[in-house]
Amino acid sequence: MRLFYALWPDVHIAKHLARAAAALPLAGDARRVPCDNFHVTLAFIGEVAASQLPALRRIGSAQRALECSITFDGYEYWSEPQVVAAVVRECPAALIELSAALHRALSRSGTPLRAHVTLARKVSQAPVLQALSPIQWNVRSFSLVSSDTRGAHSVYTVVDTWPLLYEQPPP
Ligand code: 2AM
Repeated sequence: MRLFYALWPDVHIAKHLARAAAALPLAGDARRVPCDNFHVTLAFIGEVAASQLPALRRIGSAQRALECSITFDGYEYWSEPQVVAAVVRECPAALIELSAALHRALSRSGTPLRAHVTLARKVSQAPVLQALSPIQWNVRSFSLVSSDTRGAHSVYTVVDTWPLLYEQPPP
């Protein structure tokens, strides 16, 4: 199975993101990501045996990150993966640290988190991007997600979800 840790939006946030995706001027083969697939990847795991699931669940449940708020406040076009993303220009330290802690637990070296939601794929030419009306998301949990990439669009299934902390636990 192909797995990753991610933030999964509720329907309300997903609707705002869908509006942001709908406003993109796309041409050619470019495809908007279906609304149900929006997410912020925290740590990509990749293909693993199902037998590794308990260990990956333990990693998720061991995290002690604080709740935070993120604001998507811009579009970016990334030419190498050929995507347009809604980006969080000022990412809270709690989320950067959660992503780093997940990479450490996986014994992976990850680059610092650039929190984003991919809105469109196969965008072969840079579109003219307008301003994005800010979309605020109060992040209260994160998830372990599996992806099935065989179809035209990936199908994602949330495997497990853990709450973020409301306040810092005493030392
Ligand atoms: P994205 O968040 O920029 O779209 C699930 O496949 C998610 O993990 C995708 O949304 C994708 O990025 C990210 N992803 C896919 N392959 C990856 C890889 N090899 N390394 C890091 N992230 C990857």
